Amino acid sequence: MDIIGIGYLGFESPNLDAWHEYAPQVLALGLGNAPAGDPDSLYLRSDDRRHRIAFHPGPVDRIAYIGWEARGRQAFDAAVARFCDAGVALEVGNAALCEIRGVRELVRFRCPAGYRHELFYAQKWTPRSFVPGRPHGGFIAGERGVGHIVLMTPDYGPELEAFFIDLMGFHWYGAGAGKGRTGFFRAKLNDKTSHDIAFGHAPGMKGVQHIGLFVRSLRDLGETYDIVRKRELPMQMTLGQHSQDPHVSFYHFSPSGFAVECIHELQPWHHDGFELNPEHLSVWGHERVGPILGPSVMPVERYPDD
Ligand SMILES: [Fe+2]
Repeated sequence: MDIIGIGYLGFESPNLDAWHEYAPQVLALGLGNAPAGDPDSLYLRSDDRRHRIAFHPGPVDRIAYIGWEARGRQAFDAAVARFCDAGVALEVGNAALCEIRGVRELVRFRCPAGYRHELFYAQKWTPRSFVPGRPHGGFIAGERGVGHIVLMTPDYGPELEAFFIDLMGFHWYGAGAGKGRTGFFRAKLNDKTSHDIAFGHAPGMKGVQHIGLFVRSLRDLGETYDIVRKRELPMQMTLGQHSQDPHVSFYHFSPSGFAVECIHELQPWHHDGFELNPEHLSVWGHERVGPILGPSVMPVERYPDD
């Protein structure tokens, strides 16, 4: 499937008021306009797309959907046919939902881990319209998408990898340096980053472990770090550099209880020549100062099953 990466993310949260202040003032995300069909949600921007991240009111902090971007209509049609051939239950987004998402067409489906996904093409976009929430040099989104997401799953079986690799055409990046069973994947057309989505096996648990957002400059990473420290927001890992990716980043907890990895690329990621098996997660820094699973990762009994 000719998928570029994550075009948009949708969350549910009882903490929209906190996000309304935190997203622009801490992360520097821009505030978007909520569409007429969804006036009570919070829409956030990281580039010239109409939105990249949406927060919908809900009783529990959780990911509501991951919006994968097909390159265009032909790629979308081919992907839909492939899903249908494979017997994946698809829900076709109606005109009202497409207008809310700001896309031409979309379909909804679930992965074997039970998370909701959407596939779409052609999201609304206005050149030079992005305004950050505070003075900031902007995010690297554009043609590569909003960033990456790491999800915990109580069951990590071969069907999960088969779904993303064999059906959706993702590349396997590796198991990473984390403990336990993990898998990192990137969309077929993504040649800019090592992974778009990763799953970690957490028996009995489910939820978002972290999302990763890329900022253009090291200065912006540093200024965001200062703001997080000054506000004494809960940290997960201090500033550091990953072994696998040419990234400097730090992790702190958002109002939804999942971590946000703010990332600056030291150099463009290039395909690795072999599957990496790093001795250590990081070459410097990334001292763990908080839990690796925040409150957004919860026992499956508490995770709403809609
Ligand atoms: Fe990350």
